[in-house]
Parts: sequence; structure tokens; C-alpha cells
Amino acid sequence: MDRKQIINDPAHGNRAEAFEAFDDIPTNPNLGNTIGDVINRRYGRRDVLRGVLGVTATTALFGTSALIAPGHARAMAEGDRFNFTELRWGNDQTHHVADGFDADVLIRWGDPVTADAPEFDVMNQSAEAQAKQFGYNNDYVGFAEIEPGRGMLCVNHEYTNEEVMFPGIGRQDRSGFEQMTRELVDIEMAAHGGSVFEIVRGEDGKWSVNRDNPNNRRITAETPITFSGPAAGHDRLKTSADPTGMNVLGTINNCAGGMTPWGTYLMAEENFHGYFWTDTLDAEGDPDLSAQPEAVSMERYGVPGRWYAWGKFHDRFNIDKEPNEANRFGYIVEVDPMNPDATPIKHTALGRFRHEGAETTVASDGRLVIYSGDDNRFDYQYKWVSAEAVTDENSVFGSSLLSEGTLYVARFNDDGTLDWLPLVHGEGPLTAENGFESQADIAIDTRMAADLLGATPMDRPEDAQPRGDGTAYIMLTNNSRRTPEQVDAANPRPESNFGHIIEIKEADGNHSATTGTWSILVKCGDPSIAEVGAQWNPETSEHGWFGSPDNCAIDADGRLWISTDQGSNWGLTGKSDGLYSLETEGELRGHSKLFFRCPVGGELCGPYFTDDAETLFLAVQHPGTDGTKDLVGFAKDSTFEDPATRWPDFDRNMPPRPSVVVVTREGGGKIAV
Ligand code: FEO
Ligand code: CA
Repeated sequence: MDRKQIINDPAHGNRAEAFEAFDDIPTNPNLGNTIGDVINRRYGRRDVLRGVLGVTATTALFGTSALIAPGHARAMAEGDRFNFTELRWGNDQTHHVADGFDADVLIRWGDPVTADAPEFDVMNQSAEAQAKQFGYNNDYVGFAEIEPGRGMLCVNHEYTNEEVMFPGIGRQDRSGFEQMTRELVDIEMAAHGGSVFEIVRGEDGKWSVNRDNPNNRRITAETPITFSGPAAGHDRLKTSADPTGMNVLGTINNCAGGMTPWGTYLMAEENFHGYFWTDTLDAEGDPDLSAQPEAVSMERYGVPGRWYAWGKFHDRFNIDKEPNEANRFGYIVEVDPMNPDATPIKHTALGRFRHEGAETTVASDGRLVIYSGDDNRFDYQYKWVSAEAVTDENSVFGSSLLSEGTLYVARFNDDGTLDWLPLVHGEGPLTAENGFESQADIAIDTRMAADLLGATPMDRPEDAQPRGDGTAYIMLTNNSRRTPEQVDAANPRPESNFGHIIEIKEADGNHSATTGTWSILVKCGDPSIAEVGAQWNPETSEHGWFGSPDNCAIDADGRLWISTDQGSNWGLTGKSDGLYSLETEGELRGHSKLFFRCPVGGELCGPYFTDDAETLFLAVQHPGTDGTKDLVGFAKDSTFEDPATRWPDFDRNMPPRPSVVVVTREGGGKIAV
């Protein structure tokens, strides 16, 4: 199914689902054809309605809070390092956390971020107000501590859902954007980007926003940003508004991210292609790139996606008018959370692709290392290694540690070894002869350079988290398009709807190493269904297994936590997305437990632990929108007027609001001891 069919087909659900569907379209030309979806067929709606499924599968599909009594699943397993009793799985209109913890809403879409921001008025939204208020679809959460109990929270706003943001319009991508006005587009643009604001912990242990800190700021799709690295100032970055190729307005689709060791905030631009428009269509109504000088690159990156109407009102998002604008997105953006006057920087040395995240660590040789996945089916896992070691002098915003170094792409060999292949101009096939005139072309067309090097096409690399000891965890969220012929050791299941997690051990425990080994920590999905081919520690309960790992965090004791984003696949598990602990060591390696559960239709992002491990920040993204009315009664194709949930306000005049949640232990102390 092509992109246009997916986005115009009401059977394909909501915007988040459309994002999933677009992720489903491989643009890597090195691959053969794809095939259908066995699990979807097996658990398709017709089978459910015909009552073909057995009791176990039916329970998995229809598991809801109505079917599951409150309370906890089971006693803790012997030797369990995660000191909580797991939550029961399910699906309802609000969030849940394991017993003994509080999960409090800290800030919601529309809440004031700056001192001069107006209070949120959902029926009288404006771009001017939104640019001072908390944006939409919170994703990455980071924290820059100022002193114990006080610091700057840094939150990405990935995308917008017009059908639940604005009254009376529904899904515009399905109706040709006819009701999208310049005013609504400008609100959307102001709801993208990021928020940086002070939070303070009170004597009662609860965190609150201090909107009066003058360093609080919003970053939007129109914030001035500059470039660094090999592509900065290159002809392919020049536009009519910016003949220098050095200055761009805004950052978009900021998914996961990272914090540098010195406390600056990295935002990863993921599905940037979806914001670009064209009026030049072929006979089938698909974009016709035949007159585009950048056609090959655009094809590899999926530009123009036409997910939003921005290009109808802003020429720079229309490739017919500004073909180079798309070359100015898809980077890692650095923000100084302590200085609102510091212009954010797009670091082109870290490459251009659908960056999922940018988690950092300092290698044992002192160099800065950043892991970043390219979230598309059959795309790659990358790693940046700085040229120099981290020092007091270079631990600053705009550091050369983010512009001088080497970008690598991963090759996962079937024998369990790993090679990091350098993306360096003049080395191997990365020459002018093959279309790479300089390192700038590699920075802009990173995917195409990685294709030439023979990197391993993965099952959608999402977040990647280094632990600092040479170990890193890679979330491969799912890939229903992989055929049996395309299976390899690192992507071991065809038509994988549930994903898996790879553990990397870098050589000599050094994150900057160019070789290492890898193994599969878990294969996700229901272990009770043989066809799924899941692999968990046998102590994992029916509540503890999950599908579609997405974001992850490592706590102060080195333990791994996973958040999920099942998107349209959630109907295959019946489970709302959530946060799971996942043991990586000892006899319980591969043992997972449910800790937090989202309201229906929400995806869980963050997670982020403070250094003292006493606070856990979570971001509930797009509550109410990943619903399937036919499968579970209270979930549906949500609109502003009739959403699946009105979390977190439960006010009949308010739609659902993406919000950041703060988890603390009742009475204080570490989250998991
Ligand atoms: Fe924005 Fe790949 O999740
Ligand atoms: Ca994600």
C-alpha cells in the first residue's frame, strides 16, 4: 500500500497510526519486495468477530479494565532487583502506576511555560499564545539540574493531532486539508519543537513548574536556529530566505533526544519528511519528483510526505518552491537550557536521517559518544564519536565535540560480532565518483552513504541507550515488512509486529570502539503464542511481556526501563502502552515487569530518571488517539468533541491533553531500590 492510500484510508486510523504506516514504507532501495502480516491475518477483525480465536488470544485482544480486577499480578520473583510489585495489564481511560508510587501530572498541553504566557483557552487558541505555552505531543524528557531539587526540564513536542486539538475539523489528512487555515497551521507550528522550564521540588517531595524563571523558553517550528559541521553553509542548504545556508527557522518532529554530559539538551528531528508539500503530482496522485534536482535524495528520505498542510501556507515547506528546505531538517539540535538567548544549533556532523534519539555517554578513553537510530523499517543504527576527549574546556554549548569526530553506522554480523563503519569522505566507496563530493554530502545524504557501506537494515531502530560501561541497548520496535528471505541474526523474525531489543557490548568496554559483540536480550510479544516467537525470561508474567519497545532509560543502578509505542499494533495485545522494568543481568535476565500504564490511545515517552533516582519523568503522548472502536468499546477514532478519553482533566469541555507525569515513591526515596 502506498503512502497516499494509507493516509487517505479511514481504516488506517489516526495520525499516530499514519506515522506508523509511513514508517512502514521502506525507502532503502537495497531490499526486495515485502509481504503481508501473518499476525494481523491471524488476529484480524474478521476472526475476532467470528469467534475463531481461542480463549488465550481472545483475552489478549479484549483485555480491558472491565475484565481485569484491580490489584497486583503476583509476588516478586526471587532475586528481583526491581523492588515493586508489578501492575496488571489492561486498558482504560486513565493512567496507573504500581502500588506504593505516586504518578502526578506536572504540565499539560497549553499550560503556561513563560511568565508572560496566557492561560490556556482551548476554544480561543492562537499561535502567539501557543508559542508561550506547553506544546503538543510531549516526547523526550531531559533534566538539567541547577541544584538538588531544582532544575530545567527539557521536553520535546514531536507532532500535532488536529482532530483532537481543534473543534469541528476531524482528521484533515484524510480530507485534503480543506479546513486547515493559515491560523490553524501556525498554531500547529507553535505547538511543535520543545519546552524548557524550571521545576522545583517542594518540601512535600512534589515537583511544580516555576513559570517565572526568565530562562524558561519555547522552541517552535519558527525559532531561529543555526548550523554547525560539514554541511553548514553548503549550497544544498541555501534557500531564498537564507542565501548563506547557515540559518534555518525551526525544528520539527522532535522525537527522543538526550542530554550532554555538560547539561545541554539534544533534540532529535525524526519524521521531518512528513511536513513537506508538493503540488506536482503524477497520474496516480503521488508526488512527481521528475523535475527535482534532489529527486534521488528525496526518494530515499520520503520527501515530500504531505502529512500536514504547512506547505500550502508557508512556501518553504513546498518543495516546488524551496527544494533545499528539506535538506535543513533531520538533524540533532542542541539547546542551552540555561540561556534563552543562545541560538540552538543543528549539528550536521551527526548526520541527517530520521533521528529517533541522541543518548550520550563518555567512553572509557574520554571521548563523547552518541547513539542514534534511524526509525524507518530497514534503516540503520548510528553512533557518533568525538575526535577529542571531553574536558572542562570543551564541555560547553556548541562544543566542537559535536562537530569534530566520526559518524559510524552499524553492521551486525551473523556471528554475533559488530562492526562500526565510518562515514568518512574519501574512505571506501564514499567518493565523488559515487556522488559524495565532500563530507557535506555525507552529512546531508547519510542514509545513502550508509547504504554504500553495507550497514545492516534493522527492524526500525528507535531509542538506543548506552550505560557507560561499554554496554548499549537498542530498541527495534517492529517491522511487519521483513520477509523470511530478509531475516538475519540481528533481525530474526519475519513480519515482526512486536520488535526486539539488542544488547551491544563494545570492545574492551569502550563506547568509542569500532568493534564489539551483540546479542538479543528479548524478542517481544506474547510468549504464550508459539507463532509469535517471543523470548522472555520464563519468570515474566502475562502482565510483564510487551510489544514495540520504543524509548528507554537506565537508572542510577544501571538497570534498564523500557517504554512502548505499539501504535496501530496495540489491538494485537489489547494492552495499553506503558513502562516496564527489564532485567539485563543474572538468572532473571530478560525478566520484564509492568510499572506504569498509559490511558487508552496514549503512547509512553520519556522516561528519564533524576541522578538521585528518586524522580522519574514520563511523557504521555497523544492520549486517546490510538483507539480501535471495533476492538475495545471505549476506544475509538477520537475527535475534539468525542475523544476516547479526556485524560488528564476529565472535563467535558476539554479534549485529552498530552502531559508530563512525575513518578515518586510514596514517602520518598529511590524509585527502585
Ligand atoms: Fe517518534 Fe520513532 O518515534
Ligand atoms: Ca519514539
